[in-house]
Amino acid sequence: PLPAGFACVITDDERGVAACLATHIAREGGKAILIRGRHSSTASGETGYSADLSHLDSVESELSRIRDDCGRIGALIHLAPLREEEGASLPNAAEWRSRTATEVKGLFNLMKAAGGDVRQSSGRRYTGLLAAASMGGGWALGSDTPDSPDSNFFPAHGGIAGIVKTAAQEWPEVACRVVDMDLRDSPDELASRLFAELCTPDSCVQVGYRNGRRVSVRPATSSIPRSSAPDAAQLKSGMPVLGPDSVVMATGGARGITAEIAIDVAARSPGSTWVLLGRSPSPAETEPAETRALETIEAVRAHFVSAARTDGSKFSVTAVESKVRRLIQEREIRRNLTRFVAASAMVRYVQADVGDSAAVAAAIADVRREFGRLDGVIHGAGTIDDRLIESKSPESFDSVFDPKVDAAVSLAHALDDSPPSFLVFFSSTAAAFGNKGQCDYAAANEVLNKLAEFLVRRWKRRVVAIGWGPWDGAGMVSPELRKSLIAAGTPMIDVAHGVTAFTRELESGSIGSSQVIYTGELAT
Ligand SMILES: NC(=O)c1ccc[n+]([C@@H]2O[C@H](COP(=O)([O-])OP(=O)(O)OC[C@H]3O[C@@H](n4cnc5c(N)ncnc54)[C@H](OP(=O)(O)O)[C@@H]3O)[C@@H](O)[C@H]2O)c1
Repeated sequence: PLPAGFACVITDDERGVAACLATHIAREGGKAILIRGRHSSTASGETGYSADLSHLDSVESELSRIRDDCGRIGALIHLAPLREEEGASLPNAAEWRSRTATEVKGLFNLMKAAGGDVRQSSGRRYTGLLAAASMGGGWALGSDTPDSPDSNFFPAHGGIAGIVKTAAQEWPEVACRVVDMDLRDSPDELASRLFAELCTPDSCVQVGYRNGRRVSVRPATSSIPRSSAPDAAQLKSGMPVLGPDSVVMATGGARGITAEIAIDVAARSPGSTWVLLGRSPSPAETEPAETRALETIEAVRAHFVSAARTDGSKFSVTAVESKVRRLIQEREIRRNLTRFVAASAMVRYVQADVGDSAAVAAAIADVRREFGRLDGVIHGAGTIDDRLIESKSPESFDSVFDPKVDAAVSLAHALDDSPPSFLVFFSSTAAAFGNKGQCDYAAANEVLNKLAEFLVRRWKRRVVAIGWGPWDGAGMVSPELRKSLIAAGTPMIDVAHGVTAFTRELESGSIGSSQVIYTGELAT
């Protein structure tokens, strides 16, 4: 089934799957070139190719050597994620980062380095982008995953799925697939399945092999009780219910949709305490007189343009825009802090970059020391920097992926000794479906989805990643994006409906529902 002259690059799992798959490919007249990790056991003098997958330069230079030796690369097969045996524990931060760098970001680097080749040559005659994950074969989707009480998969492998699902949208001329595998199966079995996936370029993007059966991932609709009042059975099962003594931390909770939700929940639990984390400095209690009366963004911009023109320094549009942005954000934070107080909540804003694990650990320790409890955490901090894979730099990928994921991992570690009654990650539909220009964002959010399931199994508490569709009227959807979403007929989430959906999910969703999606026109 493989076309004449077929040549593909395979990152080596070094447990025999890649070698066995190469034999299958050779039998069909194709050529497989294995790349080993540079810091792996490659003996000096050993022939073959190796690269530090975590560095784009290293990947690019080795792929150009391969191109010189073997011609154009027809397919990219990423099996390095199968290299590690999964342990039962939560990886420490250093191990997490190092594995993510090669197994998740390494895939992005390979796609940047070989995407042009694969897009030109594969023509959907076979699967041109094929990546593997090892989460047990069922993508850690609740009941389809091993019954073991331990978490025995690496949640960051969700990131591989996020990247491949985005590639499937950005590269329509390439069949893209990501396969979850159970490492208890033999290398021979795994290689045979991967060979079948390589030769079957259908439109199925996310599949797995569970107990020897091929499964595909599709979202399904489900309903939860419409009443927001938890019943006795739910109370008994440990569902989170907030009272006047409750203390909740919300990353990104001073602005955007996290603030809208947190204020709504606070208003339902008068007297509760809210600790909000954000990078912006804490705003002064009142806005300086010279800008206070400027109501529109245009008026604020005109003010800073005129101030810049008269202060004698070189005029810079970037500097003006940054001042405009800061002022608008300060106003939003100030207004929201006032709304918490109006909702009879105690609120504290803490300036912290949640991408910094020490800052997250310190914030949690401070809350516990001061209030003696921490009932719930909402991780809403996140940013976007939309660009197609070809034009996205590793720095841009990191700027979106790292803060969101590192913060989630830091929270998991800091809360592990005494988990709160709920932890909610704000994820996105981009994780479930991929989204053009958002390979990093899709990857980060899909890691959060899988980390939620990992923590549910570990903590037996309510941990849920909510994959939101775009919201209308609050948050990161810019006026330009809003226009194009409306033009494309994409239904958006109205603020009032979104906040109600959150409360209902938190109070009435089940402990096993760790990955849910809310999108479209939600009803109250
Ligand atoms: N709005 C939507 O339509 C939508 C859809 C799907 C998913 N989501 C998710 O929902 C969450 C909130 O989104 P949003 O629309 O409300 O965004 P937003 O309006 O841009 O607010 C993002 C918040 O995160 C904080 N933040 C960002 N990076 C941070 C960091 N490194 N450390 C600490 N705080 C940080 C920001 O505060 P500072 O700037 O002060 O740091 C801000 O408070 C995000 O995780 C997003 O991915 C949103």
